[in-house]
Amino acid sequence: MTQKIIAKYPSNIALVKYWGKYGNQMPCNASLSMTLSKAYTEIILQCTPKTTSKIELDYFFEGQPKENFKERIIKYASQQKEFTTLLHNFSLRIDSTNSFPHSTGIASSASAFAAIAAALLKASSQINDVDFTKEASRLARLGSGSACRSFYGSYALWGKVENIENSSNEYAIPITDIHTNFHNMKDAILIVEDSPKKVSSSVGHALMNNHPYANARFIDANKNCATMISVLKSGDVENFIAITEREALTLHAMMMMSKDYYMLMKPETVFIIEQIFNFRSETKLPICFTLDAGPNIHVLYPEQIEQTVKSFIEQNLQTKLKSVIYDHAGLGGEVN
Ligand code: DP6
Repeated sequence: MTQKIIAKYPSNIALVKYWGKYGNQMPCNASLSMTLSKAYTEIILQCTPKTTSKIELDYFFEGQPKENFKERIIKYASQQKEFTTLLHNFSLRIDSTNSFPHSTGIASSASAFAAIAAALLKASSQINDVDFTKEASRLARLGSGSACRSFYGSYALWGKVENIENSSNEYAIPITDIHTNFHNMKDAILIVEDSPKKVSSSVGHALMNNHPYANARFIDANKNCATMISVLKSGDVENFIAITEREALTLHAMMMMSKDYYMLMKPETVFIIEQIFNFRSETKLPICFTLDAGPNIHVLYPEQIEQTVKSFIEQNLQTKLKSVIYDHAGLGGEVN
């Protein structure tokens, strides 16, 4: 009989960035993210008993077979001892869909690997809820680092931070006792370019090896995580904005200072950042931006100023945009 598991996990946007890794997907510094809601991956995993010893796994993305991602999943799954019995005894079929368009700068590997790890783990074991999430987060990290943070809402920390109990390089943990200033945060994702990026995140991470500023960056990021945790609990909006924006620019500065330097920001990116600076200085409203490893901009703001920010985007930025995705902080995913 075929067993069917459905996993739906959101993407996340890092406020403090993971950039640089070592060993088996271990982060060179801690990172902290806001979990998204509307930007998610949903997968249906079907497990049918088989008798051959050969691995049988098919992967379909939006109805079409995707050979390169299938190979990545087979490699990933066969490297985890937790999935050995499943791969040995069952023929697997994964059907995946994203709620967001491809190549929009939304980290699809984060939501995809969160969903894949959770579904494979669910099919493999009977462990209880608390251990399940921790273990699924750890296994997701082995597929794509940022995926481990998609298990908790609204904010998650991945990486060992001094004095933060239970923090770990192996998996993410939720950040609790968030001040009301940071409840229900909105994220307007401004798409200025929707073609695939020229330099992959894997190449970017690798360029942090032997990067002249790497050590200073890793120390700074860990400090920013510790400060951001205090900020999220105390409600310090000014420092939330300062850390978030400086982190975004630092990520891109690291790329621009790599030995094989490159630039992912576009003229539109810089134009929009300037507009946000001006808007904030004129209105004193708590709006800020962050960037992923790409040219698109995430505009973060509290729910109370939603209409004002939407008008600002429509009136001042619309001509530079391919599209906008209005998302908000979410609670994580689910698997059944
Ligand atoms: C800039 O998680 O995509 O989005 O572990 O190689 O899959 P891999 O990298 P990935 O890197 C994300 C980098 C980032 C920052 C972040 O999400 O923290």
